[in-house]
Amino acid sequence: MSRILEGEAVEAERSWENALRPSSFDEFPGQTLVKEKLKIFVQAAKARKEPLDHILLSGPPGLGKTTLGKIIAQDMGVDCKVTSAPAIERKGDVAALLTSLKPFSVLFIDEIHRLSSVVEEYLYTAMEDFYIDIVTGDGLGARSMKFQLVPFTLIGATTRAGLLNAPFRDRFGIVERLSFYDRAALHQILTRSSGILSIEASREGLEEVAGRSRGTPRIANRLLKRVRDYAQVKGDGTISKEIASYALDQLGVDQLGLDSMDRQILQLIESKFAGGPVGIETIAAALSEDRDTLEEVYEPFLIQEGLLQKTQRGRVTTEIAKQHLLDL
Ligand SMILES: Nc1ncnc2c1ncn2[C@@H]1O[C@H](COP(=O)(O)OP(=O)(O)O)[C@@H](O)[C@H]1O
Ligand SMILES: [Mg+2]
Repeated sequence: MSRILEGEAVEAERSWENALRPSSFDEFPGQTLVKEKLKIFVQAAKARKEPLDHILLSGPPGLGKTTLGKIIAQDMGVDCKVTSAPAIERKGDVAALLTSLKPFSVLFIDEIHRLSSVVEEYLYTAMEDFYIDIVTGDGLGARSMKFQLVPFTLIGATTRAGLLNAPFRDRFGIVERLSFYDRAALHQILTRSSGILSIEASREGLEEVAGRSRGTPRIANRLLKRVRDYAQVKGDGTISKEIASYALDQLGVDQLGLDSMDRQILQLIESKFAGGPVGIETIAAALSEDRDTLEEVYEPFLIQEGLLQKTQRGRVTTEIAKQHLLDL
């Protein structure tokens, strides 16, 4: 994977990512509304000595879904078991997970839209009434047995809430969507990260990085590390506005925080299709990119920044996009 603005973490990043992961609500800037609600729900559940309702967190990669899941468990004072849908292939995998939970603990399932329907349906009774049916024996001797589980909280994370079946989605008492971060929140995150990583940076330097991070903390942290390299080699080691701007230009990240793929999408619609509307399949084919990736990773930010619009007949570039392409 070569895309510097990729929202997903690459393997080598995981260790320093964990080092930068906030462990409490107070260390987690941004997402104010979601955070305030979650804090209240946690406090109320704790006061009632009940497990927290099941929670569905959605939003593009890198916005803090996993981080929030862990913070919620931490705040509840319970264990958090983290897994991902592709690792849960059969009913037996779910049963093993659920029966290993301690009372009130959190089961965090990443990419929850990727669960098979068999596994998903198997979770229904677990989520609703904390039991599962376990089948013993086989053939004529097979017997189904109700197995009581301890109360637990399922936290599902997804980049595609729209792909969840309604009956499944309805079983989450709390459904929250994370949004892109504004510059101020990203600046706060970068200030904290540079402290942890002992990176010297001016306020303006960090603001420059914040402004070009696609509204995404994971990307902000990644750019911070890359920009530090430029500061060391091309400057005096401190991230100034000039160095940050120079480095980001070199890295192909433009003033709006778009990378070459973002620009290609806009350029394609603009130059080959006269600004659109053009269907997503056509765009995917023309750029040899996966349709899902376009919809999950690229489009949300372009739409949020007012560069792209989704219409019934297809994607359309906006005036802002046209102007931006001209300015390049
Ligand atoms: N609000 C935030 N404040 C500080 N760091 C954050 C915040 N949100 C995300 N991060 C950082 O960004 C990275 C990605 O977050 P993560 O929770 O794994 O995102 P997601 O699960 O949504 O893909 C982590 O290193 C995390 O520390
Ligand atoms: Mg995650």
